Amino acid sequence: MTTTVERLSCADVDAVSALLPVVGGNTTVPLLDGTQRTYANLDYAASAPALEAVAARVTEVLPLYASVHRGAGYLSQVSTALYESARQTIARFVDARPDDVAIITRNTTDSLNLLAGVIPPGGRVLVLDVEHHANLLPWVHSADGHGHSTTILPIARTVAETLVKLRDELARQRYALLTVTGASNVTGESLPLEEVIALAHAEGTRVAVDGAQLVPHRGFSLAATDADYIAFSGHKTYAPFGAGALVGRRDWLDAGSPYLAGGGAVRDVRADRTVWQPAPARHEAGSPNVIGAIALAEACDRLAALPPGALAAHEEALRGRLVAGLSAIEGVEIARIWPDSAPPVGVLTFTVPGHNPGLVAAYLSAEHGIGVRDGRFCAHPLLAHLNASDGAIRASVGVGTTSEAVDRLVGALSQYLSDGPTSGYEIVDGCWAVVEDTRPLVVVHGLDHLAATAAAACGPALDD
Ligand SMILES: Cc1ncc(COP(=O)(O)O)c(C=O)c1O
Repeated sequence: MTTTVERLSCADVDAVSALLPVVGGNTTVPLLDGTQRTYANLDYAASAPALEAVAARVTEVLPLYASVHRGAGYLSQVSTALYESARQTIARFVDARPDDVAIITRNTTDSLNLLAGVIPPGGRVLVLDVEHHANLLPWVHSADGHGHSTTILPIARTVAETLVKLRDELARQRYALLTVTGASNVTGESLPLEEVIALAHAEGTRVAVDGAQLVPHRGFSLAATDADYIAFSGHKTYAPFGAGALVGRRDWLDAGSPYLAGGGAVRDVRADRTVWQPAPARHEAGSPNVIGAIALAEACDRLAALPPGALAAHEEALRGRLVAGLSAIEGVEIARIWPDSAPPVGVLTFTVPGHNPGLVAAYLSAEHGIGVRDGRFCAHPLLAHLNASDGAIRASVGVGTTSEAVDRLVGALSQYLSDGPTSGYEIVDGCWAVVEDTRPLVVVHGLDHLAATAAAACGPALDD
């Protein structure tokens, strides 16, 4: 089976990987044939590796780490200043307006749950049925407790028709908030954000953008798009140290219920009353993730310092290479939500009808050292819409991805379809595994209790 990959130029595709090296870019993994291969990480959409610069920054600041906000000691003051400066960097990275507020959260899920808790009482929320569960469930489930209601609007066949549907729905009844993905975690596609925001604002509706897949891949500007809120995750933005962010309009965040009740969020507490701080402290009770925030800020600075358009060009070249390669393999179907959407970010989902996605993903890992994701990607309604309720395979790229990784996936898939796997595979605890896996388990503290082969490392299957 031949592919058209060879026809696409390699030139400059790998330039960004050299500009912004990631930790573990050369890590090798064992294959079933007894050899080792550099890991082809095509799962950036789930979690991206740390930038080397981020790891170096964490190492630099750890000796300065101490309690923040309430410590009189010298290092407490240094750590407080570093934490607050990280907040400013994160806000600047998404081009926040001067009166916006940046709250350090755990991740996008946390940010959107926080926002769901501050919608003014009685406010209605509108969401499309293409969203990741993180931008679906907080609105549906917090609705009861917070006195707001949520409408889930089915998308239409094209972007143009979806915009018309949105416009009509926004005009039909008053919504406090429209919350929309900046880029789908399934296909990398998006609606034209600025048009969506203009439609919503014309009806007095605010807009929150789920930036989990947009911010790390393209960057984002609150000021330029006029979006009201942006939520994103550090672990998808090359800073896997447990911090995320919610940035946006101050008024709801100052007035809404504190996300967590506890120390740091209050001004004064008596037995019969509590006086809460305004945002951001209002929503950051407990000891904050100082190192995570500093790591995220470093990643933001490094991404912002890339030449304009370099990241988008890198990802578009890699994704284009992937599309060309996969399209040339008979029996592979690439998922698209809309035929008329703008070029997607570096995320691509495909199916191989007649072949179980979990089996294909296990084969790619065990026999080729490739990491992809299979399942329904926490976007069950969208997968149903795409006729892929049995699951699909997702490959996603980022700054550390090379053209070799993309080519390896295309070659491995061709080989799978022409020759089949060399080993037997079976389902163990809900996930596909090699029968009698002989790959050695990496020797690292924390895995000592497991048997010495990779078969032992399969965790329980969670929500896919
Ligand atoms: C589009 C999108 N939104 C939200 C999330 C949730 O992100 P997190 O798990 O970091 O909270 C994800 C994670 O994959 C995502 O892709």
